[in-house]
Amino acid sequence: MTTGQSASRLQGSRPSQRTLVIIPTFNERENLPLILDRLHRACPDVHVLVVDDSSPDGTGQLADQLAEADPDRVHVMHRVTKDGLGAAYLAGFAWGLGRRYTVLVEMDADGSHAPEQLHRLLDAVDAGADLVIGSRYVDGGAVRNWPWRRRALSKTANTYSRLLLGIDVHDVTAGYRAYRREVLETIDLDAVDSKGYCFQIDLTFRTVTNGFAVVEVPITFTERELGVSKMSGSNIREALVKVARWGIEGRLTRGRAVRADDLS
Ligand code: GDD
Ligand code: MN
Repeated sequence: MTTGQSASRLQGSRPSQRTLVIIPTFNERENLPLILDRLHRACPDVHVLVVDDSSPDGTGQLADQLAEADPDRVHVMHRVTKDGLGAAYLAGFAWGLGRRYTVLVEMDADGSHAPEQLHRLLDAVDAGADLVIGSRYVDGGAVRNWPWRRRALSKTANTYSRLLLGIDVHDVTAGYRAYRREVLETIDLDAVDSKGYCFQIDLTFRTVTNGFAVVEVPITFTERELGVSKMSGSNIREALVKVARWGIEGRLTRGRAVRADDLS
């Protein structure tokens, strides 16, 4: 934590007063108007950036219309090709960091992340957290309408990541998050190339290893009712391979540090 931050916290300023909610979209035409409406009812002051990867169903054009109707609060970024959730968020973070937003939130378009629970994440940032994870796997958290296979996959991915990376986070793959801008300014975003849900694990690991404070707050994740998930087998393979690599690299680095200490 920098001295500047400590001072502003003591003065009682709330970073969430300038919040940008980034919503990546690929074929979310039915969901987008619903999520924006719910979001602005729940949190009227937040700004939104929709990051659309040229959805064939016209989500991007619909987003433009919604932005035209609410130009202060709704913004749209159009990207040419579908390049995964991770790349969409990285582009969104760069956009938000280039403006004066102090908190950057990740939220799915499909209604799985309830905007009515966003205040839980923002309150935790205002209380001092650097990264807040809306967690399904802490007391009070829940998952609704997921088939057992998807539930088992998520649980396994979390246990695997926790063990290999040695981090004390219960929902490391969660996609409902709030970052204080300093976190995203500090971690090397240029080095992040994870595409699928591995992106979430990647950023959690980088946040923890940079010494930032991670807090989990309970949320209820509800499976989408409209449209289809974009999660694929290649996303799962990406996570398995990368997490194993980071786990081993981390252990080697820690081992070297211990030996160096022994010698001094
Ligand atoms: N721009 C863009 N480009 N958006 C994308 C892309 C892409 O290539 N792929 C997915 N999205 C958008 C979707 O349109 C949606 O708004 C959001 O990203 C999440 O995609 P889903 O396909 O609904 O993901 P999910 O429900 O399987 O995964 C969710 O849960 C995981 C943990 O269980 C997400 O929140 C993941 O981040 C999370 O890891
Ligand atoms: Mn989803």
